[in-house]
Amino acid sequence: MKALDGVLLLLTIALAKFQSAYSQDQSGFISLDCGLVPKDTTYVERTTNITYISDGTHIDSGVVGRIINDTLRTQFQQQVWNLRSFPDGQRNCYNFNLTRNQRYLIRGTFLYGNYDGLNLLPSFDLHIGQTKWTSVSIRELGNSLIREIIHVLTEDSLQICLVKTGETTPFISSLELRPLNNNNTYVSQSGSLMLLNRVYFSPTPSFIRYDEDIHDRIWVPFIKDNTTSISTDLPVDTSNPYNVPQLVAKTAMIPADPTQPLNIRWSFGEITAQSYVYMHFAETQNLEAGENREFNITFNGLPWFSSFSPSKLSITTIFSSRAMSSPDGTFSFTFTMTGNSTLPPLINGLEIYKVIET
Ligand SMILES: *[C@@H]1O[C@H](CO)[C@@H](O)[C@H](O)[C@H]1NC(C)=O
Ligand SMILES: *[C@@H]1O[C@H](CO)[C@@H](O)[C@H](O)[C@H]1NC(C)=O
Ligand SMILES: *[C@@H]1O[C@H](CO)[C@@H](O)[C@H](O)[C@H]1NC(C)=O
Ligand SMILES: *[C@@H]1O[C@H](CO)[C@@H](O)[C@H](O)[C@H]1NC(C)=O
Ligand SMILES: *[C@@H]1O[C@H](CO)[C@@H](O)[C@H](O)[C@H]1NC(C)=O
Ligand SMILES: *[C@@H]1O[C@H](CO)[C@@H](O)[C@H](O)[C@H]1NC(C)=O
Ligand SMILES: *[C@@H]1O[C@H](CO)[C@@H](O)[C@H](O)[C@H]1NC(C)=O
Repeated sequence: MKALDGVLLLLTIALAKFQSAYSQDQSGFISLDCGLVPKDTTYVERTTNITYISDGTHIDSGVVGRIINDTLRTQFQQQVWNLRSFPDGQRNCYNFNLTRNQRYLIRGTFLYGNYDGLNLLPSFDLHIGQTKWTSVSIRELGNSLIREIIHVLTEDSLQICLVKTGETTPFISSLELRPLNNNNTYVSQSGSLMLLNRVYFSPTPSFIRYDEDIHDRIWVPFIKDNTTSISTDLPVDTSNPYNVPQLVAKTAMIPADPTQPLNIRWSFGEITAQSYVYMHFAETQNLEAGENREFNITFNGLPWFSSFSPSKLSITTIFSSRAMSSPDGTFSFTFTMTGNSTLPPLINGLEIYKVIET
């Protein structure tokens, strides 16, 4: 906890407008449908328009598998209908030739779907090069599991490996790499950033990804008891370097009782000595004369950011530029309106990452 005073001083606000250097296209995306055969097959996934290719040029080992359960094939996007499994060898790796110092969002998706008819839920590890990234433990046959990490390449090549940890057979359904062209976003002092949670505060049940999100981050809708959401039909300026999608920027969560603070509390199973938090805010309400919204933010009970006022229809991102510590794995944020605010606090989007020393 001792670093928290420091954290307060090192908080940073991303407000500056950058000329948007990104196009809405998929240039630089690597979208692998693992186990897709033959090797030169490509297709466009219907719901996202993302073009998937076979993983065959990036790996030599493994066995191609297919989910035959039609219920699951209807529920999930096409890139997880096939998979590649690794009954042989302790460690099997995907290889990419890329550019050193490039920042990538890397995402593996795992849908077991009893492809092998064994009804045996697999557990295994994922590595980036020689470093363990995370464990994958499938808990339900019909649930997809997603693992994401933001990683800066230290060489002109990248290896993503599946590593056996027991008797069960590692497998992967899809592997996606997205370049993050802005070198000033998602910067950690060391290591890589593994995603713990990325939410937007909306009652709609839909996930957001490409092409609403030009970087193809996946945003999960989240709403909690004693809150309500407000939204706007007007476009929001999302041109700060984080480029959050319009759908994230247009909706915000506020306390249902405007006199109460807004609390967000998550416990992740693991102790996270080093984490980075990104909060995205925009004023989505048309303020009348004399109305204002200003609030303080605390993290695990200690001051984090004071007297913040979201900009009208424009995204501001508040983040820690130095790692934050959560000794018990709990992330508890309280947003309290200040004395001269007439409106309750709000928030549009929130991301939490854990540092993996790579
Ligand atoms: C996919 O692209 C087509 C053609 O450009 C477009 O009409 C359609 O709306 C797109 N679908 C999605 C889900 O973006
Ligand atoms: C990466 O580059 C090496 C050396 O040029 C080449 O042998 C290999 O096939 C390339 N791998 C991929 C996946 O493009
Ligand atoms: C980001 O950094 C890499 C490596 O230093 C460099 O090649 C690239 O041009 C930088 N991108 C931008 C947008 O500055
Ligand atoms: C197909 O998947 C669904 C959803 O997980 C499950 O309820 C159903 O039992 C599965 N069907 C078969 C034949 O395994
Ligand atoms: C919601 O508000 C009610 C009444 O104030 C309270 O009893 C309850 O604990 C609150 N629920 C949560 C999840 O905060
Ligand atoms: C908000 O933070 C400021 C500066 O730390 C403090 O003076 C003020 O008392 C806080 N207000 C509330 C309502 O917590
Ligand atoms: C709130 O009050 C403080 C101190 O009087 C003042 O500096 C600040 O500008 C006020 N904020 C708003 C939004 O009026």
